[in-house]
Amino acid sequence: MKVLISDSISATALSVLRSSRIDFTYKPEISSENLVREIAEYDALIVRSRTKVTREVILPATKLRIIGRAGVGLDNIDLKATAERKVKVVNTPYALTNAVAEFTIGLMIALARQIPKAVSSMRSGKWEKSSITGSELKGKTYGTIGIGRIGARVSELAHAFGMKIMANDVIPIPKDLIDRLGISVASRDQILSEADFVDIHVPLTPETENMIGYREFSLMKKSAFIINTSRGKVINESDLLKALSEKKVAGAALDVFEVEPPNRLELLKSEKVIPTPHIAGQTEEAQNEAGRMVAEQVVEYLKSA
Ligand code: 3PG
Repeated sequence: MKVLISDSISATALSVLRSSRIDFTYKPEISSENLVREIAEYDALIVRSRTKVTREVILPATKLRIIGRAGVGLDNIDLKATAERKVKVVNTPYALTNAVAEFTIGLMIALARQIPKAVSSMRSGKWEKSSITGSELKGKTYGTIGIGRIGARVSELAHAFGMKIMANDVIPIPKDLIDRLGISVASRDQILSEADFVDIHVPLTPETENMIGYREFSLMKKSAFIINTSRGKVINESDLLKALSEKKVAGAALDVFEVEPPNRLELLKSEKVIPTPHIAGQTEEAQNEAGRMVAEQVVEYLKSA
């Protein structure tokens, strides 16, 4: 049995495979052309989000029985094509929760206190003490669109900072969570118009693609920030640029982009945007856990039949 690992993965995953005596090939930078060419040799494929497991990849994959996604989002895998070919798909939904939540809080503080601006100003030899005055999280309203595992963890942390919590989800929000954090359950538009920090924690689906565009930015307070660590395509980037230039919103922190690596230089260079290279879930702890969990699931499945 052979496993192909086509994205960078933690050493923990490799040692799980080694100790289970599973033969694997580690090609974290394989091109999509080579993936299509080579996939027929493998019984299992382990990916993160870089590898696009399209129908074109699945078609020649005649031996493939399982795809392991070390992480959460499955939008890079054609789930219709895998279902048709009876290829099982597994992921590690719990592994990255805390990493993404802590990173989100980090971005909120970076936006509110203008930390990136202060750092680059110091690096250019300036001492802008009088012009960089931030605001505090305490007493502000945090609004999350999507309150699953990650949205709930950010809400807990935001609550600890003394923020008021508003949340919206397509599925009912557990009552104990609402009571514990004093959450105001609200519509998406209410969150957009009332929150000081609008945060997004939804998967990329046909319903969420382009969910936040010019109309939505126009509802936001001029002083509000938007944070996206979910998927880039949830936000319409050109509408965000327009909203920022028209001062409809104060700023944005983006860890994810419509295209990765991103190609909209204007967005990356804007003083009002904090861009990061899709690293919210990238801590040693989270990646070790994701790697271990995905490798164990793949091994168990391959050995079960
Ligand atoms: C996820 O969906 O797991 C996160 O967005 C992280 O993606 P990555 O594994 O490609 O960094």
